[in-house]
Amino acid sequence: METVVVTPGGSDKRAYSVHVGAGLVEKTSEWASSVEASQAFIIADARLAKNAQKLSQALTKAKWKVDRALVKVSESAKDYRKIFPLYTKLIEKNMDRHSVLFALGGGVIGDLTGFIAGSYLRGMRWVGVPSTLLAQVDSSIGGKTGVNHPLGKNLIGLFHQPSLVLCDTDLLQTLSLRDRVSGFAEMVKVSLTFDKAFYEFLVQHHQSILQLEPKYLDVAVVETIRQKADVVCQDEFERTGLRQILNFGHTMGHALESATEYRHFRHGEAVLLGMRLEMALSVIRGHLPHTKYQAVDDFLKTLPIPKIPKGLTPKKLVTGTKHDKKVKDGKVNYVLLEDIGKAVVDNQVSDSDVTQAWKMMIASENTL
Ligand SMILES: NC(=O)c1ccc[n+]([C@@H]2O[C@H](COP(=O)([O-])OP(=O)(O)OC[C@H]3O[C@@H](n4cnc5c(N)ncnc54)[C@H](O)[C@@H]3O)[C@@H](O)[C@H]2O)c1
Ligand SMILES: [Zn+2]
Repeated sequence: METVVVTPGGSDKRAYSVHVGAGLVEKTSEWASSVEASQAFIIADARLAKNAQKLSQALTKAKWKVDRALVKVSESAKDYRKIFPLYTKLIEKNMDRHSVLFALGGGVIGDLTGFIAGSYLRGMRWVGVPSTLLAQVDSSIGGKTGVNHPLGKNLIGLFHQPSLVLCDTDLLQTLSLRDRVSGFAEMVKVSLTFDKAFYEFLVQHHQSILQLEPKYLDVAVVETIRQKADVVCQDEFERTGLRQILNFGHTMGHALESATEYRHFRHGEAVLLGMRLEMALSVIRGHLPHTKYQAVDDFLKTLPIPKIPKGLTPKKLVTGTKHDKKVKDGKVNYVLLEDIGKAVVDNQVSDSDVTQAWKMMIASENTL
């Protein structure tokens, strides 16, 4: 087992561990025996009912009282109107501030459970047990929680750090290739913005990682978590500009998700295309040499994701960027690249630049 310690904002007081390894769900009893609490509520993805049972048994072994709710997962499970019944269950089960919420599932379960934990009784502890690659390397780290409003995704949210994160790599074994690629995309994002050597590692071993070979998967997972933990340590609330860098691929990615009503792409798949578009924008805006763009794009375009839907146009993407949380004074802050492993922020991207980037990506798509 490997452990990365996250110190949000550099504060040792709120430090928490992220453990990565096999069989961690069963070992939860060890942690549970060491903390002052005796009541838990597990919010789990309905697909993971068996694992929820295992987690419940582990906590019961540590003499905790445990209740659970299974949630049918899709992006719409994060609709703020749909999470209300979960608060009702917590009240009915007499959950108090000393109790602990467990999030067993992917980013959807993590985001909504973290949000409930941050708002119920003005805040209670929560433990993340992320079950997708994307959640293990990204969404479960850093304390960003949130739910969706009909006018936009994650518009209602808060920063609420977990007390512990258990990345049990056994959970990943049932993950579809689409969800593995989706998580891999967030790893690539971290490498392209912060670490060229890590990018090269990911390119070299991408097949082994996507096949979940522990030798490469564990290294890649731990490394991505380490990089993200480092950012959260320096800029917990996205104030200094550092954490914003992690939004590379996301301005276009969110616009793609929104234009396709969150039904066509997994989050990481949209981010993958978003990175390709933002790399093209980096060339158009004069930050990145074309040869570097092409080399990365030649790799990214080999990763299997669904085809771009026919009716999708750059115009729809531009509309999608206007609700982006990164909009400041009407200008969209794009995170672009000036080199592999080096990001730059640019708020001068025009609508016609986006159209040109779209054309560049389609042209690259059509050349082998
Ligand atoms: N808070 C953050 O910092 C942050 C960062 C990135 C993404 N997100 C959010 O995370 C969400 C996307 O996360 P995700 O991709 O994990 O989505 P998800 O939770 O919808 O999971 C993807 C799919 O995998 C299934 N699944 C989960 N665990 C499984 C397992 N072990 N085996 C088989 N199938 C399994 C789910 O049922 C679902 O169908 C989005 O809502 C996004 O906004 C949040
Ligand atoms: Zn993301």
